[in-house]
Order: sequence, then C-alpha cells, then structure tokens
Amino acid sequence: MKKIGVLTSGGDSPGMNAAIRAVVRYAIYYDMEVYGIKKGYEGLIEGEVERLYRRSVGDILQRGGTILKTARSKEFETEEGMAKAYETLKKYKIEDLVVIGGNGSLTGAKVLSEKFRVNVYGLPGTIDNDLSYTDNTIGFDTAINTVLDAITRIRDTSSSHERTCIIEVMGRHCGDIALYSGVTGGAEIVMMPEIDCDLDEICKKVNEGIKSGKLHNTIIRAEGVSVKTDELVAKLKENTSRDVKVIVLSYLQRGGSPTFRDRMLATQCGMRAIELIRAGIKNRAIGERDGHIVDFDIAEALEMPRGTDYDLYKGIDVLSM
Ligand code: F6P
Repeated sequence: MKKIGVLTSGGDSPGMNAAIRAVVRYAIYYDMEVYGIKKGYEGLIEGEVERLYRRSVGDILQRGGTILKTARSKEFETEEGMAKAYETLKKYKIEDLVVIGGNGSLTGAKVLSEKFRVNVYGLPGTIDNDLSYTDNTIGFDTAINTVLDAITRIRDTSSSHERTCIIEVMGRHCGDIALYSGVTGGAEIVMMPEIDCDLDEICKKVNEGIKSGKLHNTIIRAEGVSVKTDELVAKLKENTSRDVKVIVLSYLQRGGSPTFRDRMLATQCGMRAIELIRAGIKNRAIGERDGHIVDFDIAEALEMPRGTDYDLYKGIDVLSM
C-alpha cells in the first residue's frame, strides 16, 4: 500500500485544515496510508508522526489554524537536520510528501526532493499571497476579508472623530494584503514593500483630503515597508492638522474560519495532489491560475517572477479622491 505524508509549515493560514482534510480523505479513498507530521519540518526531524484516518479530519473543514500544528524550523535548513527528516520518512516508508505552506516551506520541500529523491507536492498555504506561480494562496482571501472588516469598523470611529488612522497589516516582502484590502476598503494611501514611499507626498494627500471635505483618512501600511510607523506618525503630526492613531492588526489576520474561496482552493489543491501522486507525476507545486487548478514543476514554480499590480496601485489616488 502506498504511504504518503502531509505536513503544514511556516505561518498558519485559514484553509490549511480544509487542505489536510481533502488530502487525507482522497488518499484513503484511493487506498493509500496517510501519515500526519506534526509541527512541520520540526516534527519530521523529531519523528512526530501519526497515522491519519477518515475520522481524524472530521469537523476541521471550517476551522482556522492547522490541526497538524506548524513551526518555522531552523534545523531543517542544516544538512544534519534535513538528513534526520529524511530518516523519519524512510522509517515510515513515506515516499510522497505533501507540504502545505508558503515560499520558505515549499523551498524546503524542493531541496528535500533534490537531495533525497522524496516526491514532494507543494500546496500554497499562507496569508501573504507571496507565491508567484499561483494567483491566490490558501488563506489570503480570508485574511483580506478580516482586514476589510477591521477597516470598515475603524472608518466609523475615525469619521466621528475626524482622525487619520494608520492600519498596519502583515506582509514582510509582499504587499498584496495591503494593496487589495486598501483598494476595497477605500484607503487613500497604501504603503507596500515593493514600492518606495514619499512621506511628503503622503502628507500632501492627507491635506488634500481634509481640504476636500473628507471626514477621515485611512493609510494601510504593510509591515515590511522600510519607513517605520513612528516616523510616519511624527511626520503626519507635524504637517497635517489631524490626530493620528495606529492600529496593528497582527495575528488577528491569521485566524478565523476560512471563506468559501479559501476552502474551495484548499480542497481542490488537496485533490490535485492525490491525483498527481496516483499518476506518478512527481515534484509539483499546485495552485490556481485564471480560476483553474494548475500544477508546475516545483523548482520552476519557485523561480517564477512575482508581479505587482502597479495599475491597481496607481488607481488608488483616483478611487479615493
Ligand atoms: O504567515 C506569514 C506571516 O503572516 C507574515 O506576514 C508575518 O510577517 C509572519 O508570518 C509572522 O509570523 P510569526 O510571528 O508567526 O513568525
């Protein structure tokens, strides 16, 4: 009987559980034995492995987080760590490994396949949307909806008090959460790591908004932007007439029940992983392009250049006029 492993790694994201469920149930349906590895690569090194059954993944579809737990493993980045991880796979006779995680996690899977000939299948599980081969990652839709809800609530109170609010969102290297929530939340200014920002220009926009009768100003700042929030606050206080408040959304963005889109993406990616394993097609990264589930060679997928939607970014000025 074919034995497969599944793990979640890196920052958790809503929809990871839906992906685990699809992988486990599809695999069992096709007569495979499934092993869940706890705490990502950390658990693989430590040998934290448990057999998963149909009922092991009951009642998890709607839950945020990951039942398998997750970690960012430094040890896995070392030769010894990776060799230990491989020993665990050998011990359980696992030849195919499904990895649900972001850029770093899928890169780890790729290296494992290159060094030890383990067959790997990467599912894009991260709220950051920082994997270029897929239009969306599992958890991104839920995260931006959570941010949108926060923006909507913050707008109410900042209008009443005529304030400027800086809302800090996640994204160390990728500003997609900031950009998409900013556009759909009606922000005047979006600060993202991919685009340099000019503090004088930001103050100018805030002042223009005040002059044109705006009741509040909303600035969305991705955490990876080089200009620090304190610097921005000081500049706004010095150059504009409004009181400034900072709201850091932090882990609020990573939790919560996955949306329809995230559940669907997670489920379809999980199904595709098992289809690929059955067909003997190895080392794939699975994702979504133009509404269809796609898979690419994992090494090629991770090399694809990331695009930023500059037109959308430029549109913010007009949309928030
Ligand atoms: O999951 C990705 C991410 O959410 C980033 O946007 C963020 O910078 C990071 O994780 C923080 O995660 P942690 O504090 O768990 O290391």
